[in-house]
Parts: sequence; structure tokens; C-alpha cells
Amino acid sequence: MKKYLMLFLLTMFCAASASAADKLLADRHMERLGKCEACHKTMPPKQVPSKDCLSCHGSYEKLAARTDKNDINPHDSHLEDPDCGQCHRGHKKPVLACDECHEFKNIRVP
Ligand code: HEC
Ligand code: HEC
Ligand code: HEC
Ligand code: HEC
Repeated sequence: MKKYLMLFLLTMFCAASASAADKLLADRHMERLGKCEACHKTMPPKQVPSKDCLSCHGSYEKLAARTDKNDINPHDSHLEDPDCGQCHRGHKKPVLACDECHEFKNIRVP
């Protein structure tokens, strides 16, 4: 009986941590910032231009300094300053735009 309880708890634990990691960018920002308007400067919501992301995140230089520990730096490449939405997505799964042409491993877009 005890074994089943452990298994049940383990399953619940895994399910909970998986869902935290799977949360989309907008949901994670909602948890921090509390309102849609944090990203959507205009209502009803439209696409979010990079400059509105950068109003909090500073600049490509600042971002690049935070992400210079991997093989590639997604914020400092020959693509120069692409739209954030080429990789980060508000309400759907992100993509690594570089992989249209390359095949970079071990790097995940949050
Ligand atoms: C991280 C900032 C962020 C937050 C917070 C956020 N969104 Fe978004 N939203 C985006 C981005 C980025 C897009 C562009 C499409 C995409 O990437 O999913 C978008 C697109 C949309 C669109 C589609 C607009 C269009 O014209 O295509 C709607 C509707 C929307 N959001 C509603 C909401 C609502 C409602 C909330 C609050 C519950 C919210 N969003 C919170 C970032 C955000
Ligand atoms: C109102 C301020 C604000 C706006 C606008 C904003 N963010 Fe953020 N974002 C934050 C804060 C605060 C954090 C948590 C601290 C950090 O990592 O900088 C964060 C974290 C992040 C993270 C890393 C952590 C995570 O949960 O993914 C990414 C990626 C990110 N933001 C992308 C974006 C993008 C792309 C946009 C535009 C669609 C955007 N942000 C708009 C405030 C903002
Ligand atoms: C070419 C794809 C790409 C584009 C375009 C891009 N990012 Fe990122 N971003 C990434 C990847 C990949 C990571 C994770 C890097 C890592 O784990 O080292 C990341 C991480 C982040 C983080 C978290 C940094 C940290 O300390 O972990 C923030 C904040 C962020 N991006 C914001 C933005 C904003 C704002 C824009 C637009 C101005 C943008 N990004 C454009 C791919 C991209
Ligand atoms: C439209 C296709 C395309 C996209 C998208 C793309 N690249 Fe490239 N990349 C190339 C080509 C073509 C070369 C040059 C040929 C080669 O060396 O493979 C190259 C070369 C490179 C190199 C080799 C060193 C150098 O700069 O000469 C790196 C590193 C690189 N890319 C990183 C990136 C990163 C990081 C991204 C995403 C932020 C990205 N690339 C997006 C096509 C692309």
C-alpha cells in the first residue's frame, strides 16, 4: 500500500514541476507583473513590438551580457537585433530562429 502512495506522490510531484517549466512566457510574466497591460501597451491586445519588451529588458547589449555563457549567444549574432518574437512567444511555444539554418543543441528559448 505504502509503495502505491509513494508512486502517487512521485507522479504528482513530476506533474507539478513539468507544468511549471511548461508555462508560457505570458503566464510567467502575469505571475510577476499581474496584468496583461505590462506587455500589451494597447488594448485590445496586439502583437508586442521589441521596443515594448526592451522598455523593461533594456537593450540587446544588456541581454547579450546575460546570455554569453553558451556556445552561441542568441542576443549577439550575425542576425544583429532581430524581433524578440522571432524566438520568444507570448502565448505559444518558443522557437530558436537560428535553427532555420543551423542546428544548435543544448540551448532552449525560455
Ligand atoms: C510577456 C508579455 C505578455 C503578457 C503579460 C501578455 N501577453 Fe498577450 N501577447 C504577447 C506577445 C509577445 C504576443 C504576440 C503573439 C505571441 O507571441 O504569442 C501576444 C499576443 C496576444 C494576443 C493576440 C493579438 C494579435 O493581434 O495577434 C492576444 C489577444 C493577447 N496577447 C492577449 C493577452 C491577454 C488577455 C493577456 C493577459 C491575460 C496577455 N495577452 C498577457 C505577450 C504578452
Ligand atoms: C513590465 C516589464 C516587462 C516587460 C514589458 C517584459 N518583461 Fe520580460 N521579464 C520582466 C521581469 C521583471 C522578468 C524577471 C527578471 C528577469 O529575468 O529580468 C522578466 C523575465 C523575462 C525572461 C526570462 C525569464 C522567463 O520567465 O522567461 C524572458 C525570456 C523575458 N522576460 C522576455 C520578454 C519578452 C520577449 C518581452 C516582450 C514580449 C518581455 N519580456 C516583456 C519584465 C518585463
Ligand atoms: C534568436 C533568438 C532570440 C531572440 C531574437 C531573442 N532572444 Fe532572448 N533568449 C533566447 C535564448 C535562446 C535564451 C536563453 C539563453 C540561455 O539560456 O543562455 C534567451 C534568454 C532571454 C532572457 C533571459 C536571460 C537570462 O538571464 O537568463 C531574456 C530576459 C530575454 N531572452 C529577452 C529577450 C528580449 C527582450 C528580446 C528582444 C529584444 C530577445 N530576448 C530576443 C533567444 C532569443
Ligand atoms: C537565414 C539563415 C541563418 C540564420 C537564421 C542564422 N544563421 Fe548563422 N550562419 C548562416 C550562414 C549562411 C553562415 C555562414 C556559413 C557557415 O559558416 O555555416 C552562418 C554562420 C554562423 C556562425 C559561424 C561564425 C560566424 O559568425 O562566422 C555562427 C556562430 C552563427 N551563424 C550563429 C547564429 C546564431 C546564434 C543565429 C541565431 C541568433 C544564427 N546564426 C542564425 C545562416 C544563418
